[in-house]
Amino acid sequence: MTLLFSSRFHDPEVWRQTLSEHLPELDMRVWPDSGDPADIDAALVWGPKRGELRDYPNLKVIISMGAGVEHILRDPDLPKDVPIVRTFDSHMQGAMVEYVVLHVLRYHRHMPEIVENQRRGEWIKYGPEDTPGTTVGVMGLGAFGAPPAQALASMGFRVIGWTRTVKGVGGVECYPGEDGLRSFLNQSNILVCLLPLTPDTEGILNAEVLAELPKGAYVINAARGGHLVEEDLLAALESGHIGGATLDVFRQEPLPPDHRFWTHPKVTITPHNASDPHPRWVAGAIADNLRRAGAGEELLNTVDRLQGY
Ligand code: NDP
Ligand code: OXD
Repeated sequence: MTLLFSSRFHDPEVWRQTLSEHLPELDMRVWPDSGDPADIDAALVWGPKRGELRDYPNLKVIISMGAGVEHILRDPDLPKDVPIVRTFDSHMQGAMVEYVVLHVLRYHRHMPEIVENQRRGEWIKYGPEDTPGTTVGVMGLGAFGAPPAQALASMGFRVIGWTRTVKGVGGVECYPGEDGLRSFLNQSNILVCLLPLTPDTEGILNAEVLAELPKGAYVINAARGGHLVEEDLLAALESGHIGGATLDVFRQEPLPPDHRFWTHPKVTITPHNASDPHPRWVAGAIADNLRRAGAGEELLNTVDRLQGY
């Protein structure tokens, strides 16, 4: 099995070492030094350049180094018939559960106000609030949306979900499709975005959607920066309609030093670390798909190109 590795964000030597623990025979080549293009069986990529994957006649699978695949599908010159798979494991899902629960609880327990009051030396008691009286709305109940939704439901929150098709996730009431969106939003005191970035979801966190949330609602975006219309969020924070936002992902990463989010009193920024495909976590899952591709077996976590996720 010959693997082409391509990422400007990940250290190939760390990946080579970790993957070789699962596949000692693996021949890993780092783009652009791919050698004879006919040798390449598989590509492990994050954000390949346009046309980068076009000219490998024996390519059997394109593997996203993480859960999202928008960074692959945006290439109009992607080879048409090569399957794309995405990568995640239970550690990554667990990290997302921690992130979402952490930030939901911060808002639910008024931590931003309490921290601010401490700075001023002010003893002001808040809550505790009624947990079942707080509705958390999770956009996307997939591999990364369903686990935090269930964790919050098991803590006593009322949890609702917005999906494309009807999804049965224990303890979570589902509002599918365009028809369900308004009612879903109207009830969400804390909105969590865990949608994939597709042409349908690009810019979905916009003025119209934010206006449908109850006054003072909080927004947590751990999906992609492209979901958020930044100016619309800033306006909604300014008007007080949105009480605060926690953002892990941005249209430009790292977030530019002069961006208004950095100093906004109602915005919490995290550096795209809600979860992360650490090589030591996901090398086994990648090796499994490489083995399957080599043996002509069914691949795991394949992407539906038409739906974009
Ligand atoms: P999945 O593909 O497993 O699930 C996607 C969910 O979104 C599904 O429930 C799907 O609905 C729903 N959905 C998709 N399109 C629409 C739409 N147009 N309208 C309504 N619902 C829609 O994705 P994951 O849970 O694995 O990941 C989601 C995203 O989270 C990733 O694409 C990535 O961008 C981001 N992510 C961020 C991380 C971070 O560290 N910040 C880490 C990991 C992921 P249905 O169930 O009907 O198909
Ligand atoms: C992913 C991510 O998509 O970490 O895996 O953002």
